[in-house]
Amino acid sequence: MVRRQKIAKTIPTLRRSVTQWRDAGETIALVPTMGALHAGHIALVRLARRRADRVVVSIFVNPAQFAPTEDFSTYPRTFDTDVALLARERADLVWAPHSVAVMYPDGFATRIVPEGAATAGLEDRFRPDFFKGVATVVAKLFTQVTPDIAVFGQKDYQQLKVVTRMARDLDLPLKVIGAPTVRERDGLAMSSRNVYLSAEERAQAPLLHRVLQLCAGKIAKGRSIATILSEGREAIERGGFALDYLEARHAETLAPIGSIKDGPIRLLVAARLGTTRLIDNVGVK
Ligand code: PAJ
Repeated sequence: MVRRQKIAKTIPTLRRSVTQWRDAGETIALVPTMGALHAGHIALVRLARRRADRVVVSIFVNPAQFAPTEDFSTYPRTFDTDVALLARERADLVWAPHSVAVMYPDGFATRIVPEGAATAGLEDRFRPDFFKGVATVVAKLFTQVTPDIAVFGQKDYQQLKVVTRMARDLDLPLKVIGAPTVRERDGLAMSSRNVYLSAEERAQAPLLHRVLQLCAGKIAKGRSIATILSEGREAIERGGFALDYLEARHAETLAPIGSIKDGPIRLLVAARLGTTRLIDNVGVK
């Protein structure tokens, strides 16, 4: 039997469900998304399911995190398919504001501005307002849903760290949980934006993850990080990408790191194939 998925499109409707669960002493997990769901998102929902009594999945394409030059208007929107997928996963509620004005009513004038090591020097160099938009909408989602836990993907590693930092800084009473990146068989990290890739670009795309793994392996063996990264950057550019960055950072604070002795390392990359921007990251073991 096809299960009918419960959907809240306004804040009062959302609150009714959440209050009922809270009054019954149930725990709530939130999985924030922008829809166009794939197996990466579904893995987050399954993790949330295991960790809490109730699972809320939000679907909201957040205009505040897109620059005017970016793909807000063309971002894939597959609401009916998303809802069907979530019904199969037994999500308790889909929180899908029916319009942008539900999230940002007339006169909206408050923003969360993340700062510090987690925010600096990677995505922000290429998308200067991105984390302000993400932090603001995520803070609002946390306030609306009042979750005990919120699940984010390591795929967007810097976002995970910025949100974790924000929750701690603002004393938000919830735990942010990071879930591993789900990949295609050839290593390409799943992303709603992969549909933009032409067949030729799709064939080139897995190189990004291969280079990350190669670099991580060499760094683990103790070779110079600077040399390995510069070889990695060349390999990515030879593979037909326009590189935004390939960097090694402290895996927890995202502060710049010069040596494996200074802590666990995460390698993070962003590069463009044609007009599609891909990001990925791996840990150094
Ligand atoms: P979106 O790109 O839809 O991603 C929603 C969540 O799914 C994020 O936590 C992201 O890291 C995770 N995710 C995406 N691809 C994944 C993959 N291949 N494996 C594991 N997890 C993956 O990220 C956003 O939306 C927005 O910025 C949001 C947090 C919803 C705020 O608007």
